[in-house]
Formats: sequence, C-alpha cells, structure tokens
Amino acid sequence: MSQADPDPRIDIGEDVHAQYRVLRDTAPVSREAPEGAWNVARYEDVRTVLKDHHGFSSLISQRTLEDPEAVPSMLFSDPPVHDRLRGLVSRAFTPRQVGAQEASIRERCDGLIRALVESREPDLVTALAAPLPVGVNAQMLGVEDGDFETFKRWSDTIFGNIGDILMDAPSEAAIRAAEAMDAYFLERIAELRRRPVGHLLSDLVHVETEDGRLTDAELLMFCRLLLIAGNETTTSLIVGAVRVFHELPETFARLKRDPGLVPSFVEETLRLHSPFKMTIRRAARDVDLGGQRIAAGELVLPLIASANRDDRVFERPDEFVIDRDPNPHLAFGLGIHVCLGAPLARLEGRIAVEALVQHLDAIAIRDFDVASLEAFGAPASLAVELQPAHRA
Ligand code: HEM
Repeated sequence: MSQADPDPRIDIGEDVHAQYRVLRDTAPVSREAPEGAWNVARYEDVRTVLKDHHGFSSLISQRTLEDPEAVPSMLFSDPPVHDRLRGLVSRAFTPRQVGAQEASIRERCDGLIRALVESREPDLVTALAAPLPVGVNAQMLGVEDGDFETFKRWSDTIFGNIGDILMDAPSEAAIRAAEAMDAYFLERIAELRRRPVGHLLSDLVHVETEDGRLTDAELLMFCRLLLIAGNETTTSLIVGAVRVFHELPETFARLKRDPGLVPSFVEETLRLHSPFKMTIRRAARDVDLGGQRIAAGELVLPLIASANRDDRVFERPDEFVIDRDPNPHLAFGLGIHVCLGAPLARLEGRIAVEALVQHLDAIAIRDFDVASLEAFGAPASLAVELQPAHRA
C-alpha cells in the first residue's frame, strides 16, 4: 500500500493493527466504498465523534428511526430519551452498589478458577472468562440458579447476532432467543412489582423519580443491553489479560511479586487489547472531520482499538507497559454514552487477574492464534496450559 494510494479496507484476518496504523497515517477518516461507513482511526478524531453527540447521533437502528413506538436501547438513543434512561439506570451503578458486589464476585471467581485448575482440558473461556460476567449479570437481574444455563444460551445467541440485529436482519434463532428471554423477564418483572427483592432488576422496577418509572418495555431493553454490553466485553478483557501473560510471561511473575500493579495492568490490557473495538454513529448534519466532509445521515465508525494505539498520544503504542501512566485510553468510550458498567468491568477484571495470579504459577494459551483473538467478540473457547501455584 503506497502513501499516495491508501487502501482504506480493513481485513480482520490480517494484522489489523498494522492496517489501523496505515489508516491513521494516510487516511484517518476514510471509507471502503462511496456509500460505506466512514472509518475514523485517529485518537483525536475518535474523541471528537464520541464527545459530539449533537453532530454524531446514536440513532442507528432503522427500526427505531422508522417506528416512533419502538423502545430504543440507551446505547442507541440520543437525548432526551438517553438522559432519562441513563438517569434512572445509573442509580444501580453507583460505586456503593458496585462495591457491594465485590465479595460475591470474588467468591464466584475463586470457585470458577478452582474448577479450571482441576479440569483435565482447561479452557479459559468456558471455565472462567464467560461464566464470570454472565454469572454477575444474571445475579444482578435476579436470574435464578436453575435458569442460568438457559440465560447463558440466550445471551450467546443474541450476542452472536448483534450486527444483524442492529441492521434489522436478526436470524430466526436470535428472534426466538429474544422472545424467550423477554417472556422470562416479563414474568420476573410482574413478580417483582408485587414483591421487591434485593437485586438490580428489582431496584429498577421500583425506582421512581420526577421522570416516572421505567416501563416494562424499557426494563426489557435494559436486560438485553446488560447482555450485549456487559458479557462479551468482560470476557474479552479476561482473555486479553491471559493473552498478555502468554506473550509476556514476565508480567505474570511481576504481578505475583507486586499485586499492587493489577489495576494498571488491567488498564493497559484494556488499551492494548480493547474489547469494544469500534462503535457506531450517524452524522446528524454535514460535519467536517479529518479533512473530509461527512454528509448528514452517513454512518461513522470510531475505531476505538485504533485510537488506543495512536502514537500521537501513546508512546510505544504497540508495547504493553504494565505501569503506563497516564493511560487515557478510550476502551470504555467517552461522552454521554461512556460505559455505565466500567467500574463493574474493572472490578471483575481485577478480581479475575488477582485470582489467576494467586492460584497459578503460570498460564499459557495452547495453539495461540492472533487472528482469532483479534476478531470481534470474544472467542467461544480457548484451551490453556496451567501450572497450579506451588504451596509451601
Ligand atoms: C471490559 C468490559 C467493557 C467494555 C470494554 C465496555 C465498553 C463500552 C463502550 C465503549 C461503551 C460506549 C459505546 C458507545 O459510545 O457507542 C459502553 C457502553 C455501555 N456499557 Fe460497557 N463495556 C464493558 C462492560 C460493561 C458492563 C460489565 C456493563 C454492565 C453490566 C456495561 C454496560 C454498558 C452500558 C449500559 C452502556 C451504554 C451506556 C449509554 O449508552 O449511556 N458495560 N461500554
């Protein structure tokens, strides 16, 4: 690819970060086809798009655009609808609410890691990285133990189809999973209206402000959003951490010696292996960005994973620097849609890393395949080799 003739196509199978670098250097705001979405590759431009919710709308789904009755998800709505939903729901994500979950997350994580260590064919994703966040979210939503496996299946089916769901072409399986999940939660919501219990969904059912209560449809949308926004991303964070241990075993030894580095280890993992690789906006009016004119209505893809390796902001951007400070990565987004679950995701990430370091002396990935780890979404499975911690 020459400087004069940049090719703005991105092939996830190839070294995607090398391609992002070329985009940042030669075509920072560009698109693959005249009618296609605009890729935004540089940190400053990604920041601009995420912060400017007047210029870049989150109303993406055709269905929400065409049907005024449709209940939009918080993630894909603009003010004032967004502000109302976020205002009601954010009460459940205060530091106190998140902190109150720490002990139960640790307990859940320890149990999962013990089973992982005892497994004859240890698989990081199926044994730990997937069930940890699904379990935490299921508990927040009051999913009962016996229903957990079904909940996980719905979650996998819906997430596996997220691109098509946004573009309004969900598969039959995703439609059935969404309907079954809606029916399950509608029943739960009706019960909770009669008899409140102490979990997030119950609190949301009863929360009341000057904006009024959340409707059943809004509550259902929130249950789905937790699955979409909270499960797979946190799985990817844990996979990313183990990828770092595989590629740089000295980081594992360093955390064993100095567990105080775990928080900055997690931040650097979020930067280098961003779980939410890109997001999406629609230009609300004609906007100039990075020397390009983006017309009203056109789709824009802020490439978070690219922004997080922009050498205009980060020194040695492709290196893992365990104590990088400052680390202003955009892994959780920015502006009015900044990740509501970030404190919870950070807590889960820290607890998982601490538990791995405590229970193991080493961990490596079998059949390491970069392309599958760079794909969108977390891998469905990841075989690992473990060395249980030697106890004196
Ligand atoms: C490492 C894990 C996670 C990452 C990297 C992540 C990343 C993100 C990003 C980038 C956004 C903004 C997207 C945009 O602006 O278009 C977002 C939004 C959101 N996230 Fe997360 N997320 C994670 C975990 C979670 C968890 C655990 C929850 C909840 C249990 C959660 C709930 C949400 C919600 C509700 C939104 C929408 C906020 C809004 O529209 O105002 N996320 N997340």
